[in-house]
Amino acid sequence: MSDVTIPPSDSLAVLEKQRSTAETFGIPLAVLLEITHRCPLQCPYCSNPVELDRSGKELTTDEWKKVLSELAEIGVLQVHFSGGEPTARKDLVELVKHASDAGLYTNLITSAVLLTREKLSDLADAGLCHVQISFQGIEEGLADRVAGYKGGHRKKLDVAKWTRELDLPLTVNAVMHRQNLHQLPEVIQMALDLDADRLEVANVQYYGWALKNRAALMPTVAQLEECTAIVEEARERLKGRLTIDYVVPDYYALRPKKCMGGWGRQFFNISPAGKVLPCHAAESITGLDFESVRSNHSIAWIWQNSEAFNRYRGTGWMKEPCRTCEFREIDFGGCRCQAFALTGDAANTDPACALSPLHETIFKQAEAEAEGETSRFVYRNFAGGTLESENGT
Ligand code: SF4
Ligand code: FES
Repeated sequence: MSDVTIPPSDSLAVLEKQRSTAETFGIPLAVLLEITHRCPLQCPYCSNPVELDRSGKELTTDEWKKVLSELAEIGVLQVHFSGGEPTARKDLVELVKHASDAGLYTNLITSAVLLTREKLSDLADAGLCHVQISFQGIEEGLADRVAGYKGGHRKKLDVAKWTRELDLPLTVNAVMHRQNLHQLPEVIQMALDLDADRLEVANVQYYGWALKNRAALMPTVAQLEECTAIVEEARERLKGRLTIDYVVPDYYALRPKKCMGGWGRQFFNISPAGKVLPCHAAESITGLDFESVRSNHSIAWIWQNSEAFNRYRGTGWMKEPCRTCEFREIDFGGCRCQAFALTGDAANTDPACALSPLHETIFKQAEAEAEGETSRFVYRNFAGGTLESENGT
């Protein structure tokens, strides 16, 4: 899937209040399952790694079922079926049913373009609890161009309608960047018209595919200021009708985001090939070995004891300026993947932080790119990316 911002669902909020056993053992309450990297869309900011897992490496149906049972046993409460496009897996209904029977709350994070009403209805019957649909804009011209998929936007609108007809709660996920931020007021209206409970205004985060496309996606400072004002006004106006999550872009911030809630603290995901990862982009950090659910270790053991999770857990690994910074237990040094991508060392301070020696350079580069001429995308695919043609096809 193109974006992995995970909303706390209302049901999850209830479960969290009840304090599950998961908290006792430190196991995250919600886990992201990237069940495939296959996807008909080609979004230039996809959160999947640039090196995608091919279908031959994917866990089998039985392996995913075993994972789901294990997650339920160790206290996980919610699973997000994501990808790639999770509906590209023929066994999705079976997996949702298995998760549901194991007592897990299930969320489908989808581009929606492969769904039919019948398939969605089957998923609902299997116990699906929530649907999150990603949108690339508010009209097919731009939205289909960003996704690199003709007819996608129209299909998404249909699936959103079916979702509500089937009485499933809906989250609209809108990934925003320089080329679609002008549509933000209409995106908010679209979420209302689609009867969504929640809208995620997710500014692109720049690693993996998005880093390749940074010059075509980076918004201007003025655009972001306007975006923040629009979100604040809408939040006030729509209180009680639509919850708006706002994922701020961190290049223009003074302090970095607490990525993943801190490495190995609140989150893990499982890749199509079964790797247990501290974040969806973790495999971009070279030199770290990630354990697989196919190994002899349990998922709980991997979470608690594996080298990759412990390498950047807590604050002991930090260098200056993070090591002595008053914010070190607040943001945990920002994003390890971004630090690696921009500095070559994941243990460095994330350059999104104003205290990083690289912050000024990165900020200036972002500003220059935002004002630049580049608008053609490098589309995400298994071949390592394809440059959009000059006429936008
Ligand atoms: Fe956070 Fe490190 Fe920056 Fe301090 S120096 S604000 S801990 S990223
Ligand atoms: Fe990997 Fe931020 S995306 S730690």
